[in-house]
Amino acid sequence: MTIPALRVENLQVEYTVGKRQLRAVSGVSFEIGAGETLGLVGESGSGKSTTGLALLRLIDPAGGRIYLLDTDVTTLKRRDLRNLRKRMQIVFQDPYSSLNPSMTIGQLLEEPLIIHTDHPTSERRAQVASALQSVGLTPAHAARYPHEFSGGQRQRVAIARAMMVRPELVVLDEPVSALDVSTQSQILNLLRQIQKDSGTAFLFVAHDLAVIRLMSRNVAVMYLGEIVEQGPAARIYDQPAHPYTAALISAVPVPDPARAHMVGEIILRGDLPSPLDPPSGCRFRTRCPFAMPICTEQVPPPTNIAGGGVTACHLHQHGPRLDGQPLGDFLRLGVAP
Ligand SMILES: Nc1ncnc2c1ncn2[C@@H]1O[C@H](COP(=O)(O)OP(=O)(O)O)[C@@H](O)[C@H]1O
Ligand code: SF4
Ligand SMILES: [Mg+2]
Repeated sequence: MTIPALRVENLQVEYTVGKRQLRAVSGVSFEIGAGETLGLVGESGSGKSTTGLALLRLIDPAGGRIYLLDTDVTTLKRRDLRNLRKRMQIVFQDPYSSLNPSMTIGQLLEEPLIIHTDHPTSERRAQVASALQSVGLTPAHAARYPHEFSGGQRQRVAIARAMMVRPELVVLDEPVSALDVSTQSQILNLLRQIQKDSGTAFLFVAHDLAVIRLMSRNVAVMYLGEIVEQGPAARIYDQPAHPYTAALISAVPVPDPARAHMVGEIILRGDLPSPLDPPSGCRFRTRCPFAMPICTEQVPPPTNIAGGGVTACHLHQHGPRLDGQPLGDFLRLGVAP
């Protein structure tokens, strides 16, 4: 049996806010197979970036375990983190602030090789030239500075830089959210090509479900620090099993009205509650149109879903007793209040 590229178990991450602990990630578990992409989706503030930062130990987790193949990332000593960075990289949303403006593109791409390899200068320069070509730029771009580039070109540089040391996993934190739509699709195509060529696993973070769908075979839906549903993208998009997932999907314009009807419609009301003071029981209950008394009292247990994946919602054991069936019929029949 092959072990996954990344396995996360019961991850907890906290920030100190004044005298209080804000639990931004609260018991998150998932796996990413080698060469595969997991899409992590959820509204702004749900804890996606914090999860990504914790994987790289850019923030130290408060609990849980992170395994990169068989390396326990959570127990690595400070001095071992350099080796971790060679194996795991991150690309941030904003290509304007993530590249050091005083370095040339060539220096930016060579730096990881200087830190992580003992390749001689001539070989490093050759690798930089080939990396530029692999992201659709040219070796001549090496002498330029980030400010001379467009947002899309800078994101190409950031991706090339992340891939320089052939990492096993790259966290892509909203890598196209700051780009215009046509540039977005170019960068998404580039990422797919790079993954095909390199076999690198991706954690692809986005708040845009359409983008997530293009990129990921498996999807995890995050709400207020927890994963409320995860599983194969094909099943989740057509047959969501958690009301929050259904709400996110029904907010995406669907060109085919027949399909829109299939998924049903849930309008997301109100704002994300503060993670400093999360609702008792199910954290989604303050915005859920199906909330029942038990949703206030008990944390919903995980239920395996027909068609693959798992969700945490009381509707599967209480009320209508969906018993692992997707929400589809329930929504179509208009059981919603
Ligand atoms: N440095 C920080 N200090 C305190 N709270 C933070 C910090 N960064 C993020 N948060 C809080 O943690 C929660 C999760 O944030 P984040 O991981 O950025 O979510 P997302 O990436 O899904 O938008 C939010 O409530 C946010 O306000
Ligand atoms: S557990 Fe209750 S409140 Fe939470 S999503 Fe399910 S029905 Fe809604
Ligand atoms: Mg974020």
